[in-house]
Parts: sequence; C-alpha cells; structure tokens
Amino acid sequence: MALMIMAPGTKVTSWVKHLSRLEPGIDIRIWPDTGNAADIEFALSWHHPHGEFKKFTNLKCIASLGAGVDHLLADPDLPVGVPISRVVEHSMAQSMSEYVVLAVLNHCRQLDDYRTDQSQKKWQPRIPLLAADMRIGIMGLGQLGYDAAKKLIALGFPVSGWSKTPKTIAEVDCLAGAEALDDFLSQTRILICMLPLTPQTIGILNQKTFNQLPTGAYVINVARGAHLIEDDLLVALDSNQLSGACLDVFDTEPLPTDHPFWGHPKITVTPHISSITFSRAVAPQIIDNYRRSRRGQPLLNMVDPKRGY
Ligand code: OXD
Repeated sequence: MALMIMAPGTKVTSWVKHLSRLEPGIDIRIWPDTGNAADIEFALSWHHPHGEFKKFTNLKCIASLGAGVDHLLADPDLPVGVPISRVVEHSMAQSMSEYVVLAVLNHCRQLDDYRTDQSQKKWQPRIPLLAADMRIGIMGLGQLGYDAAKKLIALGFPVSGWSKTPKTIAEVDCLAGAEALDDFLSQTRILICMLPLTPQTIGILNQKTFNQLPTGAYVINVARGAHLIEDDLLVALDSNQLSGACLDVFDTEPLPTDHPFWGHPKITVTPHISSITFSRAVAPQIIDNYRRSRRGQPLLNMVDPKRGY
C-alpha cells in the first residue's frame, strides 16, 4: 500500500520527513511520479488537478492537507464513495485565532492609522474602540470559530455566533439558520467569516449582508475568497457602510497585481496565511488514518460530501 501526496506547488519535504518518522518504511510517492497507480491506496491532497484521482482505482482515503475540503469537492470527477478526511488540529485553530485576534485588535486600536501618521511624522492620539462596545459576529462555529470566540471573549469582546445548525457555546450568543441572520448581523460590529464554502455560503458576504450590519462595521474574511462578492465590498467601503476589511483569502490566489484590493486604503491584504497547517503537528493524525485504512477501521475527521464539510 502506497501513500501519494498530490499537492502541486506545495513543498512536501517536511511532510515526507514527519510521515516517515512516524511510520518507518512507509512507501510515499509524490505526484506526478507515482509509479504504478494501482499501488496507491491513500492520497494526501491540496489543490489537485481535477479528474486526476480517477486514475487511482484502489484509493481507500483522500485526505485534505488542510481544514477545508472545497478544493476536493469542486472536482466533478472525484471518485464516488472514497472516504474524504480533513485536518482538525489544535495548532491550526491556534494560528487562526491569533490572526483573527490580531485583525480585531488592529482595527479597534487603529494601528493602520498610526502607521499612516508615522509616515507623516504626525503625533496624533486617537480614542480606541472599546472591546465591550464592539460585538463580534462569527459566521461558522466549527473548531476554528469556537476557538476564536473563546479567545475574543477572554479579551472582553461580546461575541455572537451564527451557524447552519443550532450550537450552544458558553458566553456566546449563538444563532442559527437563515431566519436568524438579520438579527445576528444587526448587532455585529466586527463580522468574521469562518464558514466552510458550500453552495449555501458562496457569496454570503454581499451587499445585502453589509447593509444589515451597523454603519461603520468591519469585515474579516479568513474562510474562502468565494464567500465574498468583491465588487459589493468595494461599494460598501466607498459609501462608508463599512469602515474597513481584513482579507486573507481571495477568489483568485495569488491576488492579481492589478487587483483594486492591493491599493485600497481601507483593506488589509494577507496571502492566505491565517491558519497554517504544520506538518509536524498534523502528521500523527494522517498516519493514524493511514493505519486505520489499512486495517479497514473507521477513519477520523471524515467529511460528509453532501454537507460540504
Ligand atoms: C485550510 C486553509 O483549509 O488553510 O486549511 O485554507
């Protein structure tokens, strides 16, 4: 049984190192040099070329190298019935929460304005936005949303959460379903999108959503570029309905050099780094699933392709 890594453009050396350390003798093949396709029973994948998995007829598991699986489910030729797993790991939640907390505090303490002041040698104290006044609305209350909510609460922010199905999280005002979206948005001063990308959530950050937020709200998107209607964001920023946005994910990545987001004074752009998959931390759960699949045992962190996560 061989394990294949199909992740074009990703550096795989550290994956090979950590997987081999945990499972000495493991037969790892790096796509496209896979040898006999029939040997491959376990695949690790990140942004694979669509249609490519069809060649591997003995696959017993396709494991996403990240938390998201939209890159897999978007392939119309994904082999039907092959179990899909994703990464659920504390260090990813930790790095995502660090990013979200940083973006929230950067906004509330107006650091971007101070950087501009500094470039003009301007000494200009500003009144910070008080945490207690800045209700945060987190869309998506999975492992990442939960962790971010807890850390923001610890800093004194009131937090609401919105999810597809009802959740109960201590100290979080949890709302669920389309009928609760208006309520959720109307009290949210900082909106954080941490939703999985599904047919229901594509384009959810749109003009209607922005108009339901209080004037001057701030938007953080760390989920997927396709959640956001980019032109609607520009209109909402230019009309001051929104005061700013911090974006880590984009429809087209890398963000094209001529994209208007790069030079927009109210937008912070980062290159899809909010949550990092650390190979050392994640390799144990990959090897666990690899062993389970060899033994024919149920796999961990399975994805329901119908639900989309
Ligand atoms: C992920 C990501 O899905 O980094 O893990 O986008």
